[in-house]
Amino acid sequence: MVPVLELQDVSFSYQTATGAVPAVDTLSLTIRHGEFVSIVGPSGCGKSTVLRLMAGFLRPQAGAVVDQGTLVTAPDWRRGLVFQQPELYPWLTVEGNVAFGPRMRGLTNAERRDRVQHYLELVQLWDFRHKRPYELSGGMQQRVALARALVNEPHILLMDEPFGALDALTREHMQDELHSIHERTGCTAVLVTHSVEEAVYLSSRCVALTHRPAQIRADIPINLSSSLSKNAGREIKACPEFVSLRETVMDHIWD
Ligand SMILES: Nc1ncnc2c1ncn2[C@@H]1O[C@H](COP(=O)(O)OP(=O)(O)OP(=O)(O)O)[C@@H](O)[C@H]1O
Ligand SMILES: [Mg+2]
Repeated sequence: MVPVLELQDVSFSYQTATGAVPAVDTLSLTIRHGEFVSIVGPSGCGKSTVLRLMAGFLRPQAGAVVDQGTLVTAPDWRRGLVFQQPELYPWLTVEGNVAFGPRMRGLTNAERRDRVQHYLELVQLWDFRHKRPYELSGGMQQRVALARALVNEPHILLMDEPFGALDALTREHMQDELHSIHERTGCTAVLVTHSVEEAVYLSSRCVALTHRPAQIRADIPINLSSSLSKNAGREIKACPEFVSLRETVMDHIWD
């Protein structure tokens, strides 16, 4: 099966007034259908740069980013994006924000209505569809951002610290919600996160990067036993199997 997304020996440097800043160095990574891959690493190591390369916002100076066999040269709605700040359109309602992409793509009114309802229900915001972003909490706004990405039914969802601006309790709640959305939709996802616990909880694979310029330091499969993954988030995170995996990933970041 063709991989959903592939980084092939990708290198990228930012060009600044004081010279080139190498951020990614000959990095290769393959994301397969249905995987949930987390990217962790020290601050400033190049995680966001890797995600922007995957999205097509940046073009590598060497190597290639390939989306289902096609070279990535620009952003595309088929790669859904969620950032740390929800960045919603403040003049549009919740419904208007989620409908924006499908409208731009020319979906019919009926198709658009059905999809928007489906994804707003998925993030439990259908009852808030007539509100404007400023009337919502941070967690709710981030759920709108998630619905706005999912409504296009992207073949890959790219997220950069999507819960980084939330308080600890809301963050845990959002992790549970993302976990259940992933189980229900089976979407392929890449998550950049500072939280190793979040990475182990949500992913099927965790990729640890080196200090800048980013290279892959470790690629760790996260296979929690199936009996464990039936438990709720709080319980899983306290299990010895979970704690041991978290420590393994942590060792790759701190050594
Ligand atoms: N626009 C830019 N111009 C110049 N240098 C940049 C730019 N953006 C990032 N960098 C440099 O590239 C390196 C990688 O940045 P990046 O944002 O990818 O790191 P990160 O791993 O996402 O960091 P954090 O964990 O703090 O979000 C950083 O060390 C930074 O100095
Ligand atoms: Mg970053």
